[in-house]
Amino acid sequence: MKIYKCPICGNIITIIEGNIKPITCCGVDMEELLENTVDASQEKHVPFYEVKDDLILVKVGEVEHPMEEDHYIQFVMLTKDDDLLYIKKFNFNEKSEFKFEYVKGSKIYSYCNKHGLWSKIVQ
Ligand SMILES: [Fe+2]
Repeated sequence: MKIYKCPICGNIITIIEGNIKPITCCGVDMEELLENTVDASQEKHVPFYEVKDDLILVKVGEVEHPMEEDHYIQFVMLTKDDDLLYIKKFNFNEKSEFKFEYVKGSKIYSYCNKHGLWSKIVQ
């Protein structure tokens, strides 16, 4: 599951099916978001989770990430292979945590508007 961001306006998209090239916005190519490409605190960005029954509570991160207007977690996402995708988007004044269906072997992502994309595999 690839995610792209416009370097000009900040639009973020993902593609459900297909291999679209190029993907443009504001007249320029959108950039693929890659994990761990910005140097920042792992404790505040890598998603942290607790499993209870058939649900998984995802928090960002093990040490709570700031949720301020200019620096916050924009979304968390859970994926499994190429056929499952759950996304929870946040506003800056919300708490960056959400309950998803527990799916063993899935991958959870967090995205900070300043420090990029982070992930963890669900055991
Ligand atoms: Fe951050």
